[in-house]
Amino acid sequence: MTTEPGFPTTRLRRLRRTRALRDLVAETTLEPRQLVLPAFVREGLAEPAAIVSMPGVVQHTRDTLRKAAAEAADLGLGGIMLFGIPEEKDARGSGGIDPDGILNVAIADVVAEVGDALPVMADLCLDEFTDHGHCGVLTPSGEVDNDATLELYAEMALAQAAAGVHVVAPSGMMDGQVGVVRAALDGASRQDVAILAYSTKYASAFYGPFREAVASSLQGDRRTYQQDGRNVVEGVREALLDVAEGADLVMVKPALAYLDVLRAVREAVDVPVAAYNISGEYAMVEAAAANGWIDREPAILETLTSIRRAGADVVLTYWASEAARLLRR
Ligand code: PBG
Repeated sequence: MTTEPGFPTTRLRRLRRTRALRDLVAETTLEPRQLVLPAFVREGLAEPAAIVSMPGVVQHTRDTLRKAAAEAADLGLGGIMLFGIPEEKDARGSGGIDPDGILNVAIADVVAEVGDALPVMADLCLDEFTDHGHCGVLTPSGEVDNDATLELYAEMALAQAAAGVHVVAPSGMMDGQVGVVRAALDGASRQDVAILAYSTKYASAFYGPFREAVASSLQGDRRTYQQDGRNVVEGVREALLDVAEGADLVMVKPALAYLDVLRAVREAVDVPVAAYNISGEYAMVEAAAANGWIDREPAILETLTSIRRAGADVVLTYWASEAARLLRR
């Protein structure tokens, strides 16, 4: 049969006809090794505690965290990112630096469990540990004090390194944090510990459920240190600065509302780029799915694929373990 005049000779549907043809020409991959699981561990818990605004995510006990890490390793994930919730918080966030603090003991637990089979990463920030909920220490007038905070980040990095962490992840958006952390690690002969810098991190309404996850009492907002969502050039500048200060990987966060920034950062730097599909982005999908408004599993895979397509080499996602299982099916 010949094609009638006016009918298309270019037919893109040909390569969509079967699953195998679609797989042949797929431009983006999504693999377990590209996914990092963020996980919360709370001091003094007897049983894991549900996080209501993040259905399916829990605050772990030390014991259940070890099990989640072992499972993540078995699934071939790219890493686990640890967050600690101390029993006692104070103005200086001392629990983050204390070698017996919950995050540091949890790092040691997880490393003992998985060894080098799973990269163990830790959030390097004070907001989980401060009673005011800010990412740094405050001046008498209540401003977040950049340089006093840097000294504490340096100590916290050393505590995490001593606990055996593979990757520290400074996330407080203090100026100079990557350089100070790199110098502290190198000065303690810990040149082996890598830095994943939360470089390009925006003040966002989508962090909401995270406050519940880490029992944060934050009053006010983080707009004097996290970035203004109207800026992309500045986001690239933050990433370039962190690379110059010694970041081994950089990150864009949140992911979905900033996919254009992710693309711009991917094109600007020569290190691997991560993106964090954050708590509120997770909650949106879970809430819509729970109402029967969207089909949950395809929505999860489409979300993660979109972040990879926009330029992320690594995706931090609360669905990491589940997505790895879906991808194996
Ligand atoms: C800072 C930190 C935050 C998140 C990760 N690291 C909170 C913030 O900066 O306000 C948010 C992660 C999420 O919302 O899933 N310690």
